Amino acid sequence: MNAPTLSQDELKTLVGQAALKYVVPGEVVGVGTGSTVNKFIDALASMKDHIKGAVSSSEASTQRLKALGITVFEAADVPELSVYIDGADEIDHQGHMVKGGGAALTREKIVAAQSKRFVCIADESKLVEHLGAFPLPVEVIPMATERVIRQFSAMGGSAKVRQKDGQPLVTDNGQHIVDVTGLKIADPLAFENQVSQWPGVVTVGVFAHQKAQVCLLGTGSGVRVLEF
Ligand code: 5RP
Repeated sequence: MNAPTLSQDELKTLVGQAALKYVVPGEVVGVGTGSTVNKFIDALASMKDHIKGAVSSSEASTQRLKALGITVFEAADVPELSVYIDGADEIDHQGHMVKGGGAALTREKIVAAQSKRFVCIADESKLVEHLGAFPLPVEVIPMATERVIRQFSAMGGSAKVRQKDGQPLVTDNGQHIVDVTGLKIADPLAFENQVSQWPGVVTVGVFAHQKAQVCLLGTGSGVRVLEF
């Protein structure tokens, strides 16, 4: 008899729960943003008395953590975290990711940078051979968006400002998001270095410097652990 197929939501729950194993008791854990991380936050509530608390990468995650009684610390007050748990829009076989579908990429990169280990949690649809199919999010200072869009066009991409309720979406940092399609990201590290230097770019959604060391991938046959 075939095993029942799990929905994408069930796969997210599976990896959200599996990530608890990577949380270090007695410490502060770094927490990302998104629907998969929401499952992790819900699971984390079961061990809230065994951790000091969390550093969060977005207002949305902060609210969810606090609602479950988990203490949230400012990133600046916790110089180093042993682990950061977050989702991804795409992850390749080296642990490079595209992130920012939830517009939280800047704070996600900051918290990832202060963490010793990045554990990515994702359903199997996120695993790719090469980054670039998912529209690449880039957080940009509003006065620079048109220029950045032209720079992506010159690279062969097509970029537009992300909208919410008919207006440019405003991030937790007061900036805009440009989503770029049609790019081939053959060398994630070089790409991240290049775009990060464009004036007005706050954060590019390629996570190559802050890549994952572990990925917990939800599959029909359970959690597959990838180590990079
Ligand atoms: C938010 C992110 C998320 O981690 C990414 O978009 C994946 O989200 P989800 O778990 O909802 O698929 O980068 O900025």
